[in-house]
Amino acid sequence: MRSSRDFLRFWETTGSAKTFTHPLDPELLDAYVPRGARVLDYGCGYGRLTAELVELGYGAVRGVDVSAALIDRGRREHPGLDLMRCAEFPLPFEDAAFDAALLFVVLTCVPEDAAQSAIVAELGRLVRPGGVLYLSDVPLQDDTYHRELYGRFVARHGTYGVFETADGGVFRHHAPERLRGLVRTAGFSVVRERTGSVTTPDGRTAERLQIIARREGSDPADDGPTRTGPSDRP
Ligand SMILES: C[S@@+](CC[C@H](N)C(=O)[O-])C[C@H]1O[C@@H](n2cnc3c(N)ncnc32)[C@H](O)[C@@H]1O
Repeated sequence: MRSSRDFLRFWETTGSAKTFTHPLDPELLDAYVPRGARVLDYGCGYGRLTAELVELGYGAVRGVDVSAALIDRGRREHPGLDLMRCAEFPLPFEDAAFDAALLFVVLTCVPEDAAQSAIVAELGRLVRPGGVLYLSDVPLQDDTYHRELYGRFVARHGTYGVFETADGGVFRHHAPERLRGLVRTAGFSVVRERTGSVTTPDGRTAERLQIIARREGSDPADDGPTRTGPSDRP
């Protein structure tokens, strides 16, 4: 059985040379997160979306990733970005230090339940009440290829949806209700969902699930920078 340390090693080696393609929807972000917001891009990789946010006019964006190799690459490719390697929790920020957080295709790289919960819980600590989590990930795919793939690895990893790639990666696709549950347990309410298709790094097409969730609790600055959004309904 492979351990968390093995999974992380992949992101210091083979995984750090990959090109990530899972798209962010700028108009969805714009509907919930104003340009002045303090945004944390958790699991930023080489800063692909951190850079996109800056290009979109977001002025206070920080990227954090567990992989030193990916942060080094991000600093080379985007010298002006605020990118930091953080390998452990708690992250070096105060409670409620951010108005919003991105969590883009990170949980799919984290096969273990406890590690997934720890990530979302830490974002629950860091996003202020009333602030926003914008999560995008890959749910369980309902096609023959993926069903066979999940079935092949379920005995080895003990979780349906966890699978290995030929280059040594271990990934996980999730039941949508599991993602919603993780978010709720961390103190967020789901306010909007969006599905669609994405191209994966190995050139396949997959369904994605995006969740906009708001941090519960009273917001000391009711006129703070996070907007209500057009449709506060899942
Ligand atoms: C597919 S990449 C996505 C990067 C970025 N969010 C993007 O969309 O371009 C997944 C990221 O998750 C990070 N990651 C992998 N395992 C992790 C773990 N156990 N905890 C936190 N981050 C992890 C990797 O270092 C990598 O940067």
